Amino acid sequence: MGPNWTGHHPRAAWRGLLNDGKVGEHMQTKVNDVVSLERRGNVAVISIDNPPVNALSHPVREGLLASLRYAIADEDARAIVLVCAGRTFVAGADISEFDKPPQPPSLHESLDAIEVSTRPVVAAIHGTALGGGLELALACHYRVAVGSARFGLPEVNLGIIPGAGGTQRLPRLVGVNTALHMIATGAMIGATEALQSGLIDQIVEGDLTEGGVAFARQVSAEPRQHPRVRDRDEKLAEARAEPHLFDDFRASIARKSRGFLAPGVAVTAVEAAVNLPFDAGIARERQLIAELLQSEQSKAQRYFFFAERKSAKIPGLAADTPVVNVSRAAVIGAGTMGGGISMVLANAGIPVTLVEQNAENLERGLGVMRKNWEATAARGGSSQGQVEERLARITPTLNFEDIADADLVIEAVYEQLKLKKDVFAQVDRYAKQGALLATNTSGLDVNQIALATARPERVVGMHFFSPANVMKLLEVVRGDRSSDTAIASAMNMGKKMGKVPVLVGVCEGFVGNRMLAARGKQADRLLLEGALPHQVDRVMFDFGLPMGPYAMADLAAGIELRWRRRQETGEMDFIGDRLAELGRFGQKVGKGYYRYEPNSRAPLPDPEVEEIIREASRREGLQRRDISDQEILERLVYPMINEGARILEDGVAIRPGDIDVIWVYGYGWPTYRGGPMFYADSVGLAQIRDRLVALQAQHGDFFRPAALLERMAREGRRFQDWEQTRSAATVGS
Ligand SMILES: NC(=O)c1ccc[n+]([C@@H]2O[C@H](COP(=O)([O-])OP(=O)(O)OC[C@H]3O[C@@H](n4cnc5c(N)ncnc54)[C@H](O)[C@@H]3O)[C@@H](O)[C@H]2O)c1
Repeated sequence: MGPNWTGHHPRAAWRGLLNDGKVGEHMQTKVNDVVSLERRGNVAVISIDNPPVNALSHPVREGLLASLRYAIADEDARAIVLVCAGRTFVAGADISEFDKPPQPPSLHESLDAIEVSTRPVVAAIHGTALGGGLELALACHYRVAVGSARFGLPEVNLGIIPGAGGTQRLPRLVGVNTALHMIATGAMIGATEALQSGLIDQIVEGDLTEGGVAFARQVSAEPRQHPRVRDRDEKLAEARAEPHLFDDFRASIARKSRGFLAPGVAVTAVEAAVNLPFDAGIARERQLIAELLQSEQSKAQRYFFFAERKSAKIPGLAADTPVVNVSRAAVIGAGTMGGGISMVLANAGIPVTLVEQNAENLERGLGVMRKNWEATAARGGSSQGQVEERLARITPTLNFEDIADADLVIEAVYEQLKLKKDVFAQVDRYAKQGALLATNTSGLDVNQIALATARPERVVGMHFFSPANVMKLLEVVRGDRSSDTAIASAMNMGKKMGKVPVLVGVCEGFVGNRMLAARGKQADRLLLEGALPHQVDRVMFDFGLPMGPYAMADLAAGIELRWRRRQETGEMDFIGDRLAELGRFGQKVGKGYYRYEPNSRAPLPDPEVEEIIREASRREGLQRRDISDQEILERLVYPMINEGARILEDGVAIRPGDIDVIWVYGYGWPTYRGGPMFYADSVGLAQIRDRLVALQAQHGDFFRPAALLERMAREGRRFQDWEQTRSAATVGS
């Protein structure tokens, strides 16, 4: 708790602090546990020290307000500098307080006190000024920052908008376009752009606090009114002259923000900044954020924020588990996946030995990598110099012995168990002791692959998703014999490669594809009963996924892959077989479940396919019927949830949140629905269980509710309350 400044003469209070003998000039006095105060000459310095990111929790707000009042009351302090200790300026509100009753002082109250301060307040920023942190800086009269500082209002990613004046103050400083970009998409900007746009007043070289104090001394010496952001109107006037600006912006984010509430609300809030007086704009912002905070979307997005962080914690793994330090990697196979994985490694600055069996494939793989990097450069994502630099990190070879200096070996050869075992026997022969050995298999038994080596404890699965250089998900597969070091190293490397690694166990399809298969079976069944691919896909698209199962099959050569697999297993699938026999191998040949116009990716319904589907129904003796969108949704999504419950029963996923992270990053499940397991909670587990029971009566045992789902439904529990009993260390942070 901070000292009680009320009842004292504030000046006397600060003096009181000083007289305690604890401080003098250039000595910090603690105002409370997280805020301290110091005077450097005629400048008061308030420091926030609330690790890890100086979040604006209740003690910070309280300490801030108290120190501000001490400082303002002190005649010797002409100006005030606000700095943060540790690695960053305030990087946000304290999200854990969102759903609790508000504890005064509110952030608004603290910010208002800064803005009306008779002494100019200078925010001195390093690290990232994010969310409430940037709003705090915006309430100050001036902002200075180190060159590496970054600024953003990422609230939209939590399904809300800034709620402490950010939507009203930011456009006044940087203009409406930049503000819209930052507030409605959550984009961050760096110090140079911040200086150019007017967000900050100076970039400080050298010591930040000293620089902030010097700046404060200078402005306080000038006989001028210190600017309050709320009073500024020049940049808003510019926007008033461009009435189309908001509609144009809405159109520009339509595709990426499809289904999300918060981005549109963010635009509305910035419109209010332009059209309403400041105080009315603040009131509007408050009303808008209050609505968003209540929304299912924001609950889902906040849930997901924590689920993603928790997924890095592995129960039972000691925090000091040693990890393999990877300074060089080897990738076996230069095909679709091997090429993408090599790109990711090279992008992360890690040199790669790329091993092929076949010179032609090696050449082709390198060509694809170059083309992909050049495409990024053409879009402005990197320079031509970087393309060459990254290519130079790849050492192609046809010689297995060349993997000898790699600390990490990732195998990405054809999906055949015998081949993979042969390859791992070779890897075992040449890889150095201590190297981490990983297979990118999508479905083969990682345990069997590990046993092809004499060091199965070093082997894990690293299941990347296609395109590997784009998709963020990495399923790290723990084999029976995988050591803690192997797990921790794979998780750690996943992060270094810019991926979201999630630990899973060995089973057919691991987590993501196992649930996808459950959905796929029902989708195919729905076609036989009366639905058509475009109806099934539309239901999934409207639900928020980027595409449905049939558009996805066309994109990812699904017809061909499954056809080849059936040829091995001897299974039959009338529709799939007919499409494959007709050479309808998907988008790359212009036809699959849909047809495609030349140079277009737009799936168009095709009568030829519909006739095949009708024939399939006839052969099954099924009378085709109209199937409602609701039925399609339930029959696709509830089996996924049921499979998710089985995955938890089997211990293949550690927690429901991990399944949700997998579906968001691997398959584009919309974060505003949290993930399949969170979605199950929002529907209600009892309702899902009841529907599965009804479907089971109608369609058979495929729909039998998992025992875990049954039990949780009976007990009135939710997946999001899943408790972790064992201790968990965060890996790689
Ligand atoms: N394509 C996907 O969407 C996807 C996604 C996740 C995982 N996977 C898995 O990744 C692996 C590779 O799939 P892909 O799509 O990249 O296959 P691909 O056919 O594009 O490439 C495989 C490459 O491995 C090379 N190769 C085969 N035997 C070799 C050997 N003994 N030594 C060195 N190189 C050899 C081949 O020449 C070929 O270039 C498979 O296990 C697959 O299941 C694929």
